[in-house]
Amino acid sequence: MIKNQWYGILNSNEIKKNKLTGVTRMGEKLVLWRDETGAVKCIFDQCCHRGASLSAGTLVHDTIKCPFHGFSYDGTGRVVQIPANGKKAPVPEHFKVNAYVVKEKYGFIWLWYGAFQEVLPEIPFFEYLRTGFSYGSFSEVWPVHYTRAIENQLDVVHLPFVHANSIGRGNKTLVNGPVVEWVDNRMTFYVNNQVDNGESKPLKPLEIENYQDLFSLEFQMPNMWQNKISPDVRIVAIFAPIDEGHTKIYLRFYQRFMRLPILKQMVNHFSNVTNRFILHQDRHVVLTQIPKKSELEMNENLIQGDAPIIEYRKRRALLKGK
Ligand code: FES
Ligand SMILES: [Fe+2]
Repeated sequence: MIKNQWYGILNSNEIKKNKLTGVTRMGEKLVLWRDETGAVKCIFDQCCHRGASLSAGTLVHDTIKCPFHGFSYDGTGRVVQIPANGKKAPVPEHFKVNAYVVKEKYGFIWLWYGAFQEVLPEIPFFEYLRTGFSYGSFSEVWPVHYTRAIENQLDVVHLPFVHANSIGRGNKTLVNGPVVEWVDNRMTFYVNNQVDNGESKPLKPLEIENYQDLFSLEFQMPNMWQNKISPDVRIVAIFAPIDEGHTKIYLRFYQRFMRLPILKQMVNHFSNVTNRFILHQDRHVVLTQIPKKSELEMNENLIQGDAPIIEYRKRRALLKGK
């Protein structure tokens, strides 16, 4: 996991009012809830007394009560009451668990994974989608390391094979470029695949003129992707790391061409039916990949068309300080 980044980890609507939600993200057990103002709180989901899951406890106002012996925790992870010691007994400092910085924005819950900082960077959600769009979404867990799930969405070579009957129709196997550009930690890659007539060679990135006019996709480190289908239609995916072997993919269809309430919901719903079908074509292959996790130095024989994947691996290594 890359440290000191905002990770999208959940959909906002997964954290309900008056309810504790236990999840594993970033390889850690977390319990999340909403305090009385509706703000989302998140602490380590393991009682510091004798290890019970706090998410199996109860929410009393703004504190969590452990189901085992009733220790109460506040949103900073401190134990504020130990019933067996009496209501008035002071609680020693070291009775606490880790608390995590979480924010709710753009319909997602974001977790700051890294060292505490007084001033945190802005959540790097795609600016274009922050207003004016509606969306439909679905999510599913894949038993893969998140790097493999991400790289699948950076892979412009697989389309005519994995998606021969959907988005990869037309046997466009020859991959020109792709051209990859970075701005801060956001990659844009421009794609142009064509039918192989047996005579052309794929163009190198520098040979592609006016590449900005081509179809493009974006990837925002550490775990967010956007398919820029048209000015009015976008698909966004967030790859939430569960642990070393599991990833929860949140996929959203954003659109702004249909604004009428019921029709809008129908459009958003049905687009996700298609998107799920396409994602399952990917899933079928990605689950077979070995090794499970990708690294910069891993002995795969990559080709020119894999440029976005190579760039992702390089950037990941850089941010991890390797
Ligand atoms: S295990 Fe939580 S109070 Fe004892
Ligand atoms: Fe795919």
